[in-house]
Amino acid sequence: MLEIHHIHFPTIDSTQDYLKRECKNLDPNLLFCVTADEQTKGRGRGQNKWLSPPEKNLYISFHFVGEEMQNIAQLLSISTMKYLSLPLSFKWPNDLLMNHRKIAGIISEIVDSTHVISGLGLNVLMTEEECQTIDQPATSLLIETKKTYSIFELALGIASEFQQDLHLLKEQGFATFVPFINEHLAYKGKLMEIPSRGKTVKGIVREVTPKGTLLLEGPDGQLFTCH
Ligand code: BTN
Repeated sequence: MLEIHHIHFPTIDSTQDYLKRECKNLDPNLLFCVTADEQTKGRGRGQNKWLSPPEKNLYISFHFVGEEMQNIAQLLSISTMKYLSLPLSFKWPNDLLMNHRKIAGIISEIVDSTHVISGLGLNVLMTEEECQTIDQPATSLLIETKKTYSIFELALGIASEFQQDLHLLKEQGFATFVPFINEHLAYKGKLMEIPSRGKTVKGIVREVTPKGTLLLEGPDGQLFTCH
């Protein structure tokens, strides 16, 4: 199992961009983990910004050196769900929902085909008013559970779960996570538009396949998969 090396910044532009800048200088035998109290340029997938006010949420990114690993992008979502053990659902390709609202987003990027950088933004202490400033239905652990989670403890717990899951993924492949992800898959049986490799595909959500693709059903009942 890779050893975790954790560094924390009171403020940073983006934990994701820090690791993208530094990745070539990092020890390939470590699982590097960066957290921050706030991000001044937090970003989501595509062109989206990620609201990152100080000491409200978890902003965490991981770096490791990996060969082609199937579904590495979805692994941090899985580890987060496993660690939190709350009724969360997984919206393909990489959002976590609670009570139909987004509570976390995950981004996974690869630099030079070997440096994997996976980042998680998890809404922890944001209030209802603060969540309403986000441009899509959003929620937080505080709103959903009424509990004041420690952001630091969440970081350590999720990092440790991710460390173990990364090991499992390398040893056993993605198929070992498929039952769990299907149990938590959002919008099963619903017609959805899914972003996939820069395009949008439309179909009824069926399941995540053992190969780690999403199985959809088209208008004539034909089945097809997307990444
Ligand atoms: C998304 O849903 O679009 C993905 C959001 C990812 C946000 C996290 S917060 C920590 C890391 N640093 C960033 O700038 N982005 C990711």
